[in-house]
Amino acid sequence: MGQETKSSRIPGFYNLSLDDRLKIVRDWAALTDKEISMLKCFDNLDPKIAVSMSENVIGSICYPLSIATNFRINGKDYLIPMVTEEPSVVAAASNAARFMRREEGIKSKSDKQYMIAQIHVIKSPMPKYSTLELLLRKDEILDLANSTNKTLVNLGGGAKDLEVRILETRRGPVISVHLVVDVLDAMGANTVNTMAEAVAPLIEKITGGEARLKIVSNYAVYRLTRSWVRIPIEDVGQDVAEKIVDASAIAEADVYRAVTHNKGIMNGIIAVALATAQDHRAIEAGAHAYAARSGAYKPLSTWDIENGYLIGVLEIPLQIGIVGGATKTHPIARIALKILGVNSARELAEVMAAVGLAQNFAALRALVTSGIQAGHMKLHARNIAIMAGATGELIDIVTETMIREGKISYDYAKELIEKITQSQSK
Ligand code: MEV
Repeated sequence: MGQETKSSRIPGFYNLSLDDRLKIVRDWAALTDKEISMLKCFDNLDPKIAVSMSENVIGSICYPLSIATNFRINGKDYLIPMVTEEPSVVAAASNAARFMRREEGIKSKSDKQYMIAQIHVIKSPMPKYSTLELLLRKDEILDLANSTNKTLVNLGGGAKDLEVRILETRRGPVISVHLVVDVLDAMGANTVNTMAEAVAPLIEKITGGEARLKIVSNYAVYRLTRSWVRIPIEDVGQDVAEKIVDASAIAEADVYRAVTHNKGIMNGIIAVALATAQDHRAIEAGAHAYAARSGAYKPLSTWDIENGYLIGVLEIPLQIGIVGGATKTHPIARIALKILGVNSARELAEVMAAVGLAQNFAALRALVTSGIQAGHMKLHARNIAIMAGATGELIDIVTETMIREGKISYDYAKELIEKITQSQSK
């Protein structure tokens, strides 16, 4: 098939079996048999589950699942499952957690697990008057929302509050109604979307307008988690501690740096989110909006020195769950939760924020000391040593020699392996 004759319009693609879809893609991209069999590797995800998680599935993709060690959070030790494609992230988190466990460990506290469902009403003839009518009938609206999820209500969750604002938009005034819902251990988007749709007709009746949008807000400002830590200055060194505080101050003053600073935090948080099959897009969207809540984009964490300690504080909205969705259906996510041993969404959020803080410390410490590339180089050199055939203790010897001599290459690794093996066999 010539490139110009190919059409991506494939009616009924979604209805085909996985194998038939794969055949089409194979022809499209001239995939080899080996590539096809790699795509079809469903070793830890049953294809039946895969096709129920997404549409038009043709295969699965594996990422490394790693464990970060040394974490002590709220007095409890955790092994942290992390999924990332980026070298150094897991090593850095484990190393930072080692520093952070020496005193009382990382502390972390999550708010109530409240999500917001939004109903945006347009064309109300009396927007201002309607906002007051809505507030007057708050209990009726909340009851209606709660009628959609008796289980949640019986467990102590459900719609708890109603907020109303008027927005001035370029299409005229819009009433923005918020249902504030305690979603307990769920991420909650499905729960609150159902509630928003259920109350929309009543809200239309009260306001005389049209409910244009009915959907969760991923700006989860009522679901914040704070993590904090104090590290004795002597453990880090006065000079390094001061430089970490400099880095924090720079991020506060410079949006270009703040984004990278926060990216480092998300390296840790999203790795745990992926391991536990969370909606990581929601976490990212909410976190970055929160970083910009003052009108300027700011770092989500700050570092200061107080009374002989380096103090790190992170505050972030985390919309995550341990029941429902892929968390429940993905077998590896279930195992990851088992390894974590968390009993609630709140506890998972506390762990995730702690990992974010540790990741941030590791990045800043590396940046103000050896620079970030040193760690990356070490992993890079190690990978090359392994690719060149080094095994056992040879891996470290070859890696360190290449770094020391500033010559990191496949050929040189091979040469070193040969030399060392020959000298060992003499
Ligand atoms: C790289 O993935 C993350 C860092 O850039 C974070 C930072 O600069 O703080 C190292």
